[in-house]
Amino acid sequence: MRYEDYVDTRHKPSRSEMTCDFYAEGVRGVKPKWLAGGIAAESSTGTWTELTTEKPYMKKLAARVYKIKKSGRGMDISIAYPPELFEENNMPNILSSVAGNIYGLKEVRYLRMNGLRLPKKLAKSFKGPKFGIKGVQKTFGKKTPLVGTIVKPKLGLRTADHAKVAYEAWVGGCDVVKDDENLSGQSFNRAKKRIETTVKYKRRAEKETGERKGYMFNVTAETFEMLKRTNMAADLRNEYVMIDILTEGWGALQTLRDHSRGRIIHAHRAGHAAITKLPYHGMSMPVICTISRTIGVDQLHVGTAVGKMGEDKREVLENIAACKEKYHGIRPVMPVASGGLNPLHVPALYKIFGNEVIIQMGGGIHGHPWGTRAGAKAARDALDAVVQGRSIRNYSKELDEAIRKWG
Ligand code: 3PG
Ligand code: 3PG
Ligand code: MG
Repeated sequence: MRYEDYVDTRHKPSRSEMTCDFYAEGVRGVKPKWLAGGIAAESSTGTWTELTTEKPYMKKLAARVYKIKKSGRGMDISIAYPPELFEENNMPNILSSVAGNIYGLKEVRYLRMNGLRLPKKLAKSFKGPKFGIKGVQKTFGKKTPLVGTIVKPKLGLRTADHAKVAYEAWVGGCDVVKDDENLSGQSFNRAKKRIETTVKYKRRAEKETGERKGYMFNVTAETFEMLKRTNMAADLRNEYVMIDILTEGWGALQTLRDHSRGRIIHAHRAGHAAITKLPYHGMSMPVICTISRTIGVDQLHVGTAVGKMGEDKREVLENIAACKEKYHGIRPVMPVASGGLNPLHVPALYKIFGNEVIIQMGGGIHGHPWGTRAGAKAARDALDAVVQGRSIRNYSKELDEAIRKWG
C-alpha cells in the first residue's frame, strides 16, 4: 500500500477500533494527504515503499485516516486503528505504534497527539485504578478535598529531619505528605530508613490527631528496586507508593500496578512538559492522563491553573475531564493540584476542582513564617473555611499570618 492508500475519509470507525487525533504539520511542499497517510501507515502496517511481502489478509489491519481538516499551518487528522494491531495489556506496544516512529519522519515538521481512545476490550485488558477517587476518599473517610504537603527542601534533608518535617505537617493538619519527585534513595536519605522512620512518625501523628494520615513514599528507581521499595511500603502497611510515571516508563508502571500489593498509586508527572508543553508537538496532558488511568494510577498531578505550573484553567479542566470522564467503567483518577500553591489559592482551587482533589503545598506550608506546623494549620484552615463557605480572612491566626506573607 502507498501512503495515500491509508486515507479513507468515508471510513466510519467501529466501536472495536482505537482512534487517535493528531495535529500534523509537514515540511514545505509535502502534500497533506500523503503526510496524513504516511502517519497512519508508519503507525500501523506500512513503510515508505510498497512491499513484496504484503499478504492479502493484512489489508484489514491498515490504519485509516478518517478525518482531515486544515488547521493553522497544518491539519487536524483522526486515525482509526484495527484492534488486532495491538497486544492486549501492553502499553509500550500500543505507544510504539501510535506515538513511535511517526514523530521522527523527515517530512513531519510537528506532530502532536491530542486524543487517544482505546476500545473497551483493549482498555479492559489493563488493570485500571484499584482505588481511584472513591477509594482514596474512603481511605481517609472524607468527601471533601484532601490537603497535603511535599517535604521541603526537596533534596538534602537527612532522614530524621525529613520524618520530623512530615510529622509537623500531619499534626498541623495535613492529610497527606509526599516525597518530592527527585527524592529517591540518595545517600543522605536512603529509602529503607526513610520509610521506616516516616511511618513511625505517621503513626504517632495519627494517634495524636485521631485522623488517618497518608505518606506517599517515592519508589521511583530501577524496576527491581522499585518493587523492593513497594514491598517495604506494603510490609509496613503504608497505604501509598508514589511513582514518577514518565521517567520510570509505562512498562514499569504496569509492573508496579501488578505488584502494588494493594497500595494506592500516586502518580507524579515530572518531565511531562518535555512532551506536553508545545501545543503543536508531542502529546497532550489529557492523553497522558488516559494512558495513566488505563494502566491504573489512583492519583495524578494535573496542574493548578493558579500556582507556578504553566497550564491555564481551560487546560487544567481538560486534564481533570480525562481523569474523570466515563471510560468503559474504568475508575476515575483523583486529580492532584500541586506546584507553587499557598493557602490563598484554596478558594480558586475549590471553584475549579470541587471536592475531588488533593491540594498540595510545599513552599506554601514550609515557608510559613512560624514554621511547618503553623503552615499546615493555615492550609487546613483555608480548606475548612472554603468548604464551609466562609472567608479565609479572620479564620485563624495562622491563616491570617499566611495571608500577610503571600497576600
Ligand atoms: C506538577 O507537575 O504538577 C508539579 O511538578 C508539581 O509536583 P510536586 O507536587 O512535586 O510539586
Ligand atoms: C515541586 O517540586 O514543584 C513541588 O513539590 C511543589 O512545591 P511548591 O509547592 O513549593 O511549589
Ligand atoms: Mg515536587
